[in-house]
Amino acid sequence: LPGLGALARSRGITFGAAVQGQLLETEPDYQRAFETEAAILVPEWEAKWSALQPQEGRFDTAPLDSILRWAQSRARPVRGHALVWHNDIPGWAQAALAEGRHRAMAVMAAHFDRVLAHGRGQIRDWDVVNEPVANPPGSDVPQAGPGELRDTPWLRALGPGYIDIAFRMARERDPTLRLTLNEYGVEEDTPDAAEKRRRLLSLLRSLLSRGVPVDAVGIQAHLQMARPFRPAPFAAFLAELRQMGLAVLITELDMRETQEAPPGLAVRDTMVAERTHAFVATALEGGVRTVLTWGLSDRHSWLASDAGVMLRDGRTHRGLPLDEEWRRKPMWEALARAFQGG
Ligand code: G3I
Repeated sequence: LPGLGALARSRGITFGAAVQGQLLETEPDYQRAFETEAAILVPEWEAKWSALQPQEGRFDTAPLDSILRWAQSRARPVRGHALVWHNDIPGWAQAALAEGRHRAMAVMAAHFDRVLAHGRGQIRDWDVVNEPVANPPGSDVPQAGPGELRDTPWLRALGPGYIDIAFRMARERDPTLRLTLNEYGVEEDTPDAAEKRRRLLSLLRSLLSRGVPVDAVGIQAHLQMARPFRPAPFAAFLAELRQMGLAVLITELDMRETQEAPPGLAVRDTMVAERTHAFVATALEGGVRTVLTWGLSDRHSWLASDAGVMLRDGRTHRGLPLDEEWRRKPMWEALARAFQGG
């Protein structure tokens, strides 16, 4: 059976996944899964600041290049993730940002110069700013700090206009790029997600009103079974984004089960598949044409390595389309059905 990438392509949809260069090189099963399933790739870590510029002026593009070479040899596009984010900022850059505006601008420009030139022609779209919106007070990672923007080293160095600066800096360097603002926690039917959707829409309206070159919105879609999902509020949100002229991508889809995940793989996999189908079908109806999962297999999911999200009883979230033995799961079927319009 053709993989998800081929099934999606037959309906004008681009499907792919986050990839780790080292695993691509060292694990044949991992490589085979990406060969079969992914028509687009995004580096899970290798295009972030701590990977690309671990020391000031010392750029290390080797990890990223292993992904670019693999993708190039198979004519697969690669997304860039992420030019500006509050995580994975190496120590030297944190210190530079704390020195103030002038130094921050210089460090930002030097990074953008080198990184955008490096990817030119192969990386066609970048997450220019990742997760700029402050989480509402009640959410799982409540957010202190001013107003509706997350309090980050970038905000402190450059003020709220840091987002404008980042998008303009990227556009200046490569006008052919699609520039994306990427965010999480805007998918489900909860008061916090509704508030975060409102905040994101407000931020985008203000950016576009100033002529800031935002082309697309990335919705991460790290979904949680513990939260309800209703198509209507999410569909309305997508319609508002489309009315602003923005393309919308699903950039990091995976599923966290509840801590009380029921026994038995079949029932768990069915629940995950049903939620996946409801979400992706709504996204596609709302005009989404690019869907990436954050990895392909439960074997290598951040959900099994990030202490904050792991299942406390030691089980692994079954939140990706392939299981730990690379077998297709009901979530795989759910994606296939959604891509086929089922
Ligand atoms: O630092 C080592 C490096 O020395 C080594 O060579 C390399 C080899 O794999 O691994 C590096 O380790 C870690 C890397 O993951 C491995 O892929 C990094 O220390 C660690 O910080 C990094 O964690 C990533 C995390 O973002 C922070 O960048 C996770 O893999 C990745 O799944 C996670 O992804 C984020 C998205 O970027 C944004 N949305 C949320 C999502 C999940 O947190």
